[in-house]
Amino acid sequence: MSTLKYCFTGLRVLLLMVLAGCASQTRVSFQKDVYPILESNCLACHTPPQGKGYLKTHLNMQSYETLMQGTVYGKVILPGDSRHSILNMLVEGRAGAAMRMPHERDEPLTRDEIEVLRLWVEQGAQNN
Ligand code: HEC
Repeated sequence: MSTLKYCFTGLRVLLLMVLAGCASQTRVSFQKDVYPILESNCLACHTPPQGKGYLKTHLNMQSYETLMQGTVYGKVILPGDSRHSILNMLVEGRAGAAMRMPHERDEPLTRDEIEVLRLWVEQGAQNN
């Protein structure tokens, strides 16, 4: 990922946080806010046919539709309920350090990235 793209994503996230503080109406966008986070941190392992996470669970994050299908065990996102959504549990480290996503990385997601994913699920996990 280029530095420029990283900066851009960071700025958008920051702006979202500020706006969210001002107006509770601010909507998180799947395409503009959520997908870039998945793309840089998750797709390497959650893309068929060779991604490690895909191979183990069939969780494919390439599109909104496949993400919402979840794993062979069930859904990872429950719209409106980030407390009980497995995806949020894992990135927040609530399922324990060994299961924290992204796997095999020193750095977990930033607090802002975690918050974007949480807000998106709370706002109904829409394809927007
Ligand atoms: C280095 C590879 C890798 C990366 C990067 C990765 N995952 Fe995973 N993921 C896995 C593997 C492997 C599994 C299968 C479960 C296990 O072995 O812990 C998995 C399983 C999962 C599951 C299903 C867990 C379950 O029990 O149903 C979710 C949800 C998930 N990952 C989310 C994410 C998210 C969100 C990201 C990005 C922030 C991410 N993963 C990044 C490898 C990865």
